Amino acid sequence: MPSVFVQGRPVDSYPRHAPEARHGKVRRITEAGEEVLHKPCRDVTEFGPDLAALIDDMFLTMYIADGAGLAANQVGVDLRLFVYDCPDDDGVRHVGHVVNPVLEPLDASHRRLLDDSEGCLSVPGAVMNVPRPDRAVVRGYDRDGEPLVIEGTGYFARCLAHETDHVNGQVYLDRLSGRDRKEALRQMADRRDEVLARRAATIEALSA
Ligand code: NI
Repeated sequence: MPSVFVQGRPVDSYPRHAPEARHGKVRRITEAGEEVLHKPCRDVTEFGPDLAALIDDMFLTMYIADGAGLAANQVGVDLRLFVYDCPDDDGVRHVGHVVNPVLEPLDASHRRLLDDSEGCLSVPGAVMNVPRPDRAVVRGYDRDGEPLVIEGTGYFARCLAHETDHVNGQVYLDRLSGRDRKEALRQMADRRDEVLARRAATIEALSA
């Protein structure tokens, strides 16, 4: 089994960071409470250099913040788009971007819910258990407008569901019970400054 899939296709070798990140610039990551994260994003209708540049920025921003996925509204852009660099539970790495992603509904008899820990770059410092299906299929397009189907299991299925939630205007806090949501916000209040300081130090080191 190949150990890296890029845009859903196996590749023989791949660098530690997606090449897109080399051309990107770091953008500020929005936080839970900012409007852009809590309303459905608009469909991407223009496939061109601006979209490609946004994807570059999103990859770099995701790596700087040590994330496994990042949606466009997490950098303040109201468009249906996400990037990912995420392992599954079999040690396979998945890297890519999806434009106008739609999560395919799965037959309840063919999926299992996994209760596993989840965090979000827009909820800095919090990690909570969230039940998610153990399999996910996302349909969308690549930056050139070519149709795409990305399938994931385990932690990568979680990532695909989490990022598609983002473009639909949902954060994982919305999937928590009232009590767990409060706990997540408490964790964020405790650790946010530390997480943001670490991100700032990484950006500093990069530009030095
Ligand atoms: Ni997130």
